[in-house]
Amino acid sequence: MVRHFLDIHRLSAEDLRGILDDAHARKQARKGWPKGRADADAPAKDRVLAMVFEKNSTRTRFSFDAAIRQLGGSSIIATASDMQLGRGEPVEDTAKVLSRMVDAVMIRANRHEDVENFARVSTVPVINGLTDRSHPCQILADLLTIEEHLGPVAGKTIAWVGDGNNVCHSFMHAAPKFGFRLQVACPAEYHPDLHDLAKGGDHVVLTSDPQDAVRGADVVVTDTWVSMGDKDYEARLEAFDGYGVDDALMDVANPGAVFLHCLPAHRGEEVTDAVIDGPRSLVWDEAENRIHAQKAVLAWCFAGG
Ligand code: CP
Ligand code: NVA
Repeated sequence: MVRHFLDIHRLSAEDLRGILDDAHARKQARKGWPKGRADADAPAKDRVLAMVFEKNSTRTRFSFDAAIRQLGGSSIIATASDMQLGRGEPVEDTAKVLSRMVDAVMIRANRHEDVENFARVSTVPVINGLTDRSHPCQILADLLTIEEHLGPVAGKTIAWVGDGNNVCHSFMHAAPKFGFRLQVACPAEYHPDLHDLAKGGDHVVLTSDPQDAVRGADVVVTDTWVSMGDKDYEARLEAFDGYGVDDALMDVANPGAVFLHCLPAHRGEEVTDAVIDGPRSLVWDEAENRIHAQKAVLAWCFAGG
């Protein structure tokens, strides 16, 4: 069976733990190496990864490109607007064609259903590089970062403060799989999707009070209040007033608590300069860890055959 990486809740806890362990191991094994040198096992040797972007990207684009090279493979990158996809060619037809030309496809799409439909007919692995619904690759990088600094994530408490968005959904999917508690604080009108909340089971609690979410937390996470595709900028700024992460809010968390943000950040909105550029912030490790996490995802996909 083709191994797609579409959402964290679709994989077993065992497979996910294996991917995260592989990410740790691959990072450790190449400390000090030039970034272009392939890992010793080169599990993607002779493999080509296609990357299709319907939305902007810095981290996902560069980290996947670096990742496939470090696994011994190569990439082809295109924005959807340069492809016939951008002129209305069906996503399923695109999937059938790319399946004949490359060994795996990473897609960043506006509509989650398009990635699902692509994967349904693709005969090569498909990886979700962010949709309006989820961002599973980001969460693996975040968990890698947390474990490097705080030890095993199982049993830890993570606070999500701000928009109940795509990144929040993937965190909720991950909570029962990795055994952590997630305390989410969102304004009522921007709460997470209830189907995604349900996937978190009793590992996830929802509140509208940022202090309640952060109390007892080992990690505080936020993201932009206005994701790609959101049109209601003014209404959002108003609704999220009071949800910014500042030093006072960080002080409510457990001593030694760390701060994560998937980036890009909007200083002065969801986070202050003092927090994101301060000693509790791990955002640069988190960004680097996109490479290591994605290498493990790609290696898992290719190990399926
Ligand atoms: N965090 C993240 O996915 O960043 P990009 O949008 O730059 O890829
Ligand atoms: N929630 C953000 C994440 C960007 C990486 C967005 O979808 O724009």
